[in-house]
Amino acid sequence: MSAATARLLVIFGATGDLAQRMLLPALLGLEVDGLLPDKLRILCCARSEFDSDGFRRQAAQSLRGGDPVDETVVGRLLERIEYLSVDLGQAGAFERLAASVRRLRDGHVLYHLSTAPSWYAAICDGLERSGLIDEDCRVMLEKPIGHDLPSSREINDGTGRVFSENQIYRVDHYLGKDGVQNLLALRFGNALLEPLWNAQHIEQVQITVAETVGVEGRASYYDHYGAMRDMVQNHLLQLLCLTAMEPPSQFDASAVRNEKIKVVQSLRPIGEQEAAGHSVAGQYSAGAIDGEAVRGYSDEVGHDSHTETFVALRAHIDNWRWSGVPFYLRTGKRMPRRVTEIYLQLKRVPHSIFPSAAAQMQPNALVIRLQPEERIALSLMNKTPGLDRNGVKLSQVSLDLDLHDAFEDKRHRSAYERLYLDALEGNGTLFVRRDEVEAAWHWVDRIIAGWQASGMQPKRYPAGTWGPSSAVALTERHGHSWRE
Ligand code: BG6
Repeated sequence: MSAATARLLVIFGATGDLAQRMLLPALLGLEVDGLLPDKLRILCCARSEFDSDGFRRQAAQSLRGGDPVDETVVGRLLERIEYLSVDLGQAGAFERLAASVRRLRDGHVLYHLSTAPSWYAAICDGLERSGLIDEDCRVMLEKPIGHDLPSSREINDGTGRVFSENQIYRVDHYLGKDGVQNLLALRFGNALLEPLWNAQHIEQVQITVAETVGVEGRASYYDHYGAMRDMVQNHLLQLLCLTAMEPPSQFDASAVRNEKIKVVQSLRPIGEQEAAGHSVAGQYSAGAIDGEAVRGYSDEVGHDSHTETFVALRAHIDNWRWSGVPFYLRTGKRMPRRVTEIYLQLKRVPHSIFPSAAAQMQPNALVIRLQPEERIALSLMNKTPGLDRNGVKLSQVSLDLDLHDAFEDKRHRSAYERLYLDALEGNGTLFVRRDEVEAAWHWVDRIIAGWQASGMQPKRYPAGTWGPSSAVALTERHGHSWRE
């Protein structure tokens, strides 16, 4: 398929929460800087009964709900948009869709499926039957791609029947975040880190994605998924891949994704025998965040539930680079603060010449903070100023780089701005390939099966804390501690 820029974007599920909160604002962000393809038309489809003007009015309202907007630019974006009220389950729906697509089409098409994933295969079939798919079309799929390996295969088979793999763009919105892409820049744009980036020098790695929010009106979805499927299978494993992968030969879709999949395939399985020693599941009970009382999970979803809202794992990547280095992964809802960060702790100095400072001596560490702010901090031991008549004193200080300050004049881009631009232009580097999704499910399914076989249930933790106490034991047992 050629990578010509799409001239028609068709969004399914256009009245949904994602579309209103993320997709339309991202399109507006691109419109502001004149980055949308010149003649791009946008066909928004959903069941709600609006006409195009009604939908544009609602879209304008959503857009005005965020940061201040330039009304001229909003007007320009809205002019591109048409709305089609269509229930794809009804007879004749695809014929009506086909009439609109044919009328608007003037080149490549990008279909964006932002509906429940159970619709993906049916939508692809319908598009195919209506003659709406050819080699000049691409499709963008939102997560979750399945609930486990078999269901993800079903979705991949269903979409793969009509689109070839290089036409399919599976979204993991973490890959669209600037901070996440900066991981690649940091690793492969600097000569300083690579010699240290391996088991000879790194003692442990921690990847934390902590959220303060609860289930936010998504109880029926979340209760069926839990933190392992909702966060670990995708966002955390993607961060792990970018942290641990070998340098790709170039920054393109095949080279990057070939290296990422090798990491997932090298993950040591965590099954029934290892579940207790290598994983922790938790569920928040009532507590407080920032002084505000919050309800427990079961109360929020309205029934007793065994769904985990917190997961911590001790993972290992069995290859030369990482042999013996634990990768601690942790994610949870209702944590004390929102933070996404990667922490690499180096090994201690092999021999200390400062016996008087033994107690202060800490290993060096690199912290890559991705959210809420982007910063990079390197902690180093320094001499504490003074005359030191009883031996040198040392203190740990941090070389701290605030990327917001460093790039003050640059506008912060949302993940979907990047992802839309790439999908419209046919660049799949920041999208997830089928083999990656399935390998991730394979690893995650085994852990969940291990929990079930060993009768593991989520341990309670009060909202506003860093998870159950067993999560602390997971690291301390091995002489490590979570960075908090
Ligand atoms: C989504 C999950 O994929 O990512 C949500 O379904 C989660 O449960 C969200 O809250 C977190 O994304 P971000 O960009 O806010 O870190």
